[in-house]
Amino acid sequence: SLRLLPLFLAALALSGCGKEGVSALKPEGEVAKEQASLMLISLLIMIVVVLVVGFLFTYAMIKYRKRPGQEDYIPKQVEGNTKLELTWTIIPIILLCILAVPTISKTFALSDNNTSKKSDVLKIKVTGHQFWWEFEYPDQKITTAQDLYIPVGKKVEFDITSKDLIHAFWVPALGGKQDANPGQTNHLWLKADKEGTYKGRCAELCGSSHALMYFNVKAVSDKEFKHWVKDMKAGMKSAPDKDRVLTASAKQGEEVFKNNCMSCHAVGNKGGQIGPNLTNFADRDNIGGFEKHTKSEVKKWIKDPESIKPGAKMPKFGKKLTDDQINALADYLFTLSVKQ
Ligand code: CUA
Repeated sequence: SLRLLPLFLAALALSGCGKEGVSALKPEGEVAKEQASLMLISLLIMIVVVLVVGFLFTYAMIKYRKRPGQEDYIPKQVEGNTKLELTWTIIPIILLCILAVPTISKTFALSDNNTSKKSDVLKIKVTGHQFWWEFEYPDQKITTAQDLYIPVGKKVEFDITSKDLIHAFWVPALGGKQDANPGQTNHLWLKADKEGTYKGRCAELCGSSHALMYFNVKAVSDKEFKHWVKDMKAGMKSAPDKDRVLTASAKQGEEVFKNNCMSCHAVGNKGGQIGPNLTNFADRDNIGGFEKHTKSEVKKWIKDPESIKPGAKMPKFGKKLTDDQINALADYLFTLSVKQ
């Protein structure tokens, strides 16, 4: 078994790697901080227990080892020691209480949902799909996907559900983790302390691209958030046929989009609801939640989504559309920006 040691050490070292920002140990918000402090308490208790038990174990091994030339014998057998038994019962009880009190109180504090004043919170409906995330802002009448905008310092309440099977919504740096179950709504709230982009991901095995079900949480200042809402609302009202000035190629791409993509994808409030809403597609950080946001990646995606996200529901368009049409489509998609 010693031969497995290097493997074990390598696994241990690699377990710290991964996508940047996906760590529950670097909390950036109230919920995440509370949860990290609970982890710390239990870690400290465990360290104390391991040290004490390890010390006693080592002491007994050395003290009562078999010495050379010593004959085999059975040591004095002890049965029943009230003092000792009370000690090893009471100490764990105390340790469990130290762990239980903050755990229970924080569990209730963090599950507090739907109790805040309406004006103090932002409501967002989260829907998990194989393999992407839909975000709906019911009060603002905005629907978007993959990039989740939230204002810094504000309590954000999520109503979480799924369109197909069980996913789990998780933003490690902001805390929480909640199952997204079809036909049911679960609740979670989070708050970001600092502006920045935090990686979110699916935390429930949901198929071949479960590990690729990333999303970005963009925590922005209140002012920037209001600006984004205004721009998005304008974008939600616009649709592909709104008279925008487009290059010839993008114009051609718009036609391709109308004829091939709109039964599943909406731009603004026009189009299908099967795939992600693409209103602010050009403003997004990644394609499919993790790929570089470039035209060449978009074209690869349109030609063969399966090669990037196995199990994606979108059909291959590599055979149906010509390279020319796909180029035009990519040009069009990169005009879908709400930034004024
Ligand atoms: Cu969705 Cu894992």
